[in-house]
Amino acid sequence: MAHSVKIAPSVLSADFTRLGEQVQIAAEHGASQIHIDVMDGVFVPNITMGPLVVKAIRRVTRLPLDVHLMIIEPDRHVQAFADAGASALTVHFEACPHLHRTLQYIKSLGVRAGVAINPHTPATLLSEIAHLVDIVLVMTVNPGFGGQAFLPETLPKIRQIRQMLGERPVDIGVDGGIDAQTTPQVLEAGANVLIAGNAIFAAAGGIASGMKAIKQAAGK
Ligand code: DX5
Ligand code: ZN
Repeated sequence: MAHSVKIAPSVLSADFTRLGEQVQIAAEHGASQIHIDVMDGVFVPNITMGPLVVKAIRRVTRLPLDVHLMIIEPDRHVQAFADAGASALTVHFEACPHLHRTLQYIKSLGVRAGVAINPHTPATLLSEIAHLVDIVLVMTVNPGFGGQAFLPETLPKIRQIRQMLGERPVDIGVDGGIDAQTTPQVLEAGANVLIAGNAIFAAAGGIASGMKAIKQAAGK
């Protein structure tokens, strides 16, 4: 089964003084969903946004909101993010001692459930929860900041995960250093959700040109 290719602009790299407008430009130029990075300054060294920002973005677009929780104890906050309008909530494998329970909890709220893995986390650790996830998010940089260089050693892992998931309709997202150069490699390995911050919101020719370059690289 071919998994449809989706482009998910990551607002971490957007101009926050014009966030609504920038999301709308990305949507007009073919974004499939909007990626929102939540960081707590504990799980990752940076602090970013919370449910308030998700709620604000919910008002400016109909696109699914894909919320990436880079936080410890995510169970304490998933309800608030679901209430704010998140369409998918992705938690980190490394932050969840009771991942099976956390994923079930997210699904019970009627939201798609995802699990993200850091570059050092092996794919095989997902085997016992693979049946519970709608999304596997492979971090292709160490999480915490936009604009980092893609780690090519993550490519075999993407391939291994797609093999593990088989025909299941699970999205494999790639997050970090995704641009027109890395897009063909991650697609070939089996990813289908291209999450990109800098390559879209900081593109030299503007958001439209950033979207166009990734779409072209993806053959869309
Ligand atoms: C990094 C975040 C990413 C980030 C990617 O921790 O999870 O979503 O926005 O940024 P780029 O595409 O600039 O590497
Ligand atoms: Zn992210």
